[in-house]
Amino acid sequence: MRILHVASEAYPFIKTGGLADVCASLPQAQARLGHDVRVLIPAYRAAIAKLQTRKTIAEIQLPGLPAGVRILETEMRNAASKVWLVDYGPAFDRDGNPYLDDTGMPWHDNAERFFLLCRIAVAVIHNEDLLSWRPDVIHCHDWQTGMVAPLIDDDQDVVKIFTIHNLSYQGIFPRSTFTSLGLKEELWAMDGVEYLDQMSFIKGGIVFSDWITTVSPTYAREIQTSDLGCGLEGLLRHRSDRLVGILNGIDYDEWDPNTDPYIDFHYHADALEGKLQNKTACMERWSLLRDDSAPLFGFVGRLVEQKGIDLLIAALPELLNHGYPFVVLGMGDPVLERKLQDIARAHPGRLHVRIGYDEEMSHQIEAAADIFLMPSRFEPCGLNQMYSMHYGTVPIVSKTGGLADTVVPATPQNLANQTATGLTFTEFTADVLIKTIHQGVKLFDHEQSWRALMLAGMSWDFSWRQSARSYLELYQANSK
Ligand code: ADP
Ligand code: GLC
Repeated sequence: MRILHVASEAYPFIKTGGLADVCASLPQAQARLGHDVRVLIPAYRAAIAKLQTRKTIAEIQLPGLPAGVRILETEMRNAASKVWLVDYGPAFDRDGNPYLDDTGMPWHDNAERFFLLCRIAVAVIHNEDLLSWRPDVIHCHDWQTGMVAPLIDDDQDVVKIFTIHNLSYQGIFPRSTFTSLGLKEELWAMDGVEYLDQMSFIKGGIVFSDWITTVSPTYAREIQTSDLGCGLEGLLRHRSDRLVGILNGIDYDEWDPNTDPYIDFHYHADALEGKLQNKTACMERWSLLRDDSAPLFGFVGRLVEQKGIDLLIAALPELLNHGYPFVVLGMGDPVLERKLQDIARAHPGRLHVRIGYDEEMSHQIEAAADIFLMPSRFEPCGLNQMYSMHYGTVPIVSKTGGLADTVVPATPQNLANQTATGLTFTEFTADVLIKTIHQGVKLFDHEQSWRALMLAGMSWDFSWRQSARSYLELYQANSK
């Protein structure tokens, strides 16, 4: 099959979160299964800087734009699939984050920028000659690509897939944006892209695609409820016969403690010494006081409400007073960033905080930590808990979304039959988080139980094998 993925991020060209990992590793897994796969992303300045090879393969004239839009071609790391970058200076050639300006606000022209990405995807479908290639399947990811499906002519023979990685980001803009984008008036409707008198990009993907997927079975259920439906639960329930949860996989070429180029010592399930060596080396690097009898706790993630970092902040002083060492890597809400730094200053040698984006350190935390924390309020899938388990780092997670689907909780029964891979909690309070962490420490103190937890996580298959096939089955399922 010829498959075109369209997204606002793909690793290693541009990444702010798990979307980038998935939009690189899923296409590569599909290519490995013998399919012809391309990925279309914006040519942000930062992405262009990462290109090792590139050529311009087309210049597309879109009505209403003063200049042509160039398409640059490069390859994914293992050369399994091609990456096309939409190069239009006024939209993408600027410093900083793909979505936010340097005051942390969405770029004023986000609607126009991502609408351009959508228009290019549609042009590729409508006109095979443009890039001498036309997909059988167009697979769009998140709101930035939501306007692809509504713009595709009805007579086009292409399967339209829309994957929701995070329903809380919807791409909502005022009516005036709808008008200035030049959209057909009939799209301004309840069964179009109108939402509470505004324009919604994500609605376009949900209403007009053949299949809607999300990144875990539990999240697929949760988004049909008022708790996590972000106002779209009614629409999603309406389309529930076309809504499927397919769990993300992880890319073992990038995340494997036995080959990871970013970590100091390699290890695997039959030779775990390297894990302790990483802990020792990293604690020294991060100026944390060494105490082998205490587990090292790690957190990596966007510092936003979704990730429950506020809960961790509330719990930290008490946990640090117990002498547990913590390492936190993340960036996001400046208020949360400051709070973390303040706590770190008050607890030297106990809490190391690094504000920023640091790929290398994120791997080192997975390798060095004993326990990885993900107290998310909601989590469509979550990749870090899977990286953790693969690295023998036991996750403590809230029981939501993909976390509930991937972590086998340490109940007495699961511990007895050695299937447990982590600890979960349901009530979202700092006290419950603290209690769960104490339970984790108790298990850590019991060497045999702990080893069983680590090994159960390490033996789990988190690869894309199964999920890549599930997507292919969906592409082939009766689509209309
Ligand atoms: P989300 O996509 O909601 O951010 P995921 O768990 O799916 O959450 O994926 C997050 C990805 O982004 C992981 O690969 C994680 O290591 C990475 N990541 C998040 N924050 C940082 C950071 N500050 N530095 C390096 N990597 C980060
Ligand atoms: C989103 C979600 C995260 C998921 C990732 C990749 O950013 O927040 O849970 O793992 O997308 O699908």
